Amino acid sequence: MSSNSTVRVFLGAYVHSLSKDQPLVIVQDGAIGVENGKIIFVDTAENLESLKEQFSFGDDSIQIIGRGEFLMPGLIDTHIHAPQYLNAGLGLDLGLLDWLSTYTFPAEAKFQDVNFARPFYDKVVQRTLRSGTTTASYYASIHRESAEVLAEIAHNYGQRAFVGKVSMDCYSPDYYIEDSAEEALESAEKFVTNVLNKKYPLVQPVITPRFALTCSEQLLRGLAALAAKYDVHIQTHLGESKAEIARALELYPQGGSYTGIYEKFGILGKKTIMAHCVHLDSGEEDLLKQTGTSVAHCPTSNMFLNSGFSPIQNYLDKDIAVGLGTDVSGGYSPSILDTMRHAILNAKTIQMTQNESYQSLTYKEALYLATLGGAEALAIENVTGNFHVGKSFDALHIDLASDSSAVHVFSNEGLVEIIQKFIMLGDDRNIAQVFVAGRIVKNN
Ligand code: GUN
Ligand code: FE
Repeated sequence: MSSNSTVRVFLGAYVHSLSKDQPLVIVQDGAIGVENGKIIFVDTAENLESLKEQFSFGDDSIQIIGRGEFLMPGLIDTHIHAPQYLNAGLGLDLGLLDWLSTYTFPAEAKFQDVNFARPFYDKVVQRTLRSGTTTASYYASIHRESAEVLAEIAHNYGQRAFVGKVSMDCYSPDYYIEDSAEEALESAEKFVTNVLNKKYPLVQPVITPRFALTCSEQLLRGLAALAAKYDVHIQTHLGESKAEIARALELYPQGGSYTGIYEKFGILGKKTIMAHCVHLDSGEEDLLKQTGTSVAHCPTSNMFLNSGFSPIQNYLDKDIAVGLGTDVSGGYSPSILDTMRHAILNAKTIQMTQNESYQSLTYKEALYLATLGGAEALAIENVTGNFHVGKSFDALHIDLASDSSAVHVFSNEGLVEIIQKFIMLGDDRNIAQVFVAGRIVKNN
């Protein structure tokens, strides 16, 4: 094997998900080796001597993960609106459609000015990385140039990212709309080719129709064709609020259902991720399943915009891939840790108020959704999501022993307690190091 001195080895505890049905595996005395950003071995510390020989590394390559600490895969935010960070924590007193026109469109319109967008997007990427988001699927605004700046900033900081220039050509305010379907398609294509031409190793463009309510049939069909032409992802919103669904069917009755509209226009598929999916009928669930379309579960936003409670266990039971999304700023928090807690509360609420036999979500399943589930939803599970040889080392070094921690661990507590306390009470202070593709992107 290589005698490359860039081998880096982590000795100590790690946790990760193997699958939806094995959402939490804890290894107390692990040994994970990383070279050129990729995981080259996942083993145990007792084999250290033979690993040293096989992979040619010495003690100076080793980082010890001590007591009260562990490694876990990086968090994946499958749905976040970067410009809306401007409003994070604000304007949560309205339902979806009024919230969009009152607070959100005016905020996004400001991003026409690249000089405004640049320092702001810088803060968004720094903030999400600090919170442990190693992969983010971003919506920018309708403005191509500032969306390209967001892609560049994610690249510069070393975050794995999907970045979408939002497309919308109808039923939107005069100050925040594209001139025509043709113009919107031209701009979307230019965005995709410009980002692809940069050959960023970790950043991909994503086709982003805002939702059926602000897109003409010509635009939706054209965007689907562009995604196929360049083999890139599509992201949009689906079945979020009842008023939104009624409006979608008023505009496009031929779809038969909201999901049916997207299906008819070619939007569904293995590289498509649908945010929210709060109110779907079983035929719509089947359409998602048949087409391999996945779901971004955004419980914080669904509660704060009074949208409802998304029954994601039903989707998981049907083998539809589900990840978590902060949905800033429908969701107030850019931290996926908060989203995990709200996903648990979402499931408990369904169980208490709608269906006693609805299975509530465990902290282990929340961890799966935030890591491997997100990777599956974005169809990048071969690249990231857990610790497997050949995958990228996208990881968090969690430290609950630090003096500034708001989480207190007592001497009789082991990893099972430590992990739960981190998931329920931890914050940025406990995320000591963040790695994306082996590179340190945050170091406390
Ligand atoms: N539906 C269409 N646009 C948006 C948005 O920006 N946020 C949310 N939560 N839903 C949407
Ligand atoms: Fe959203």
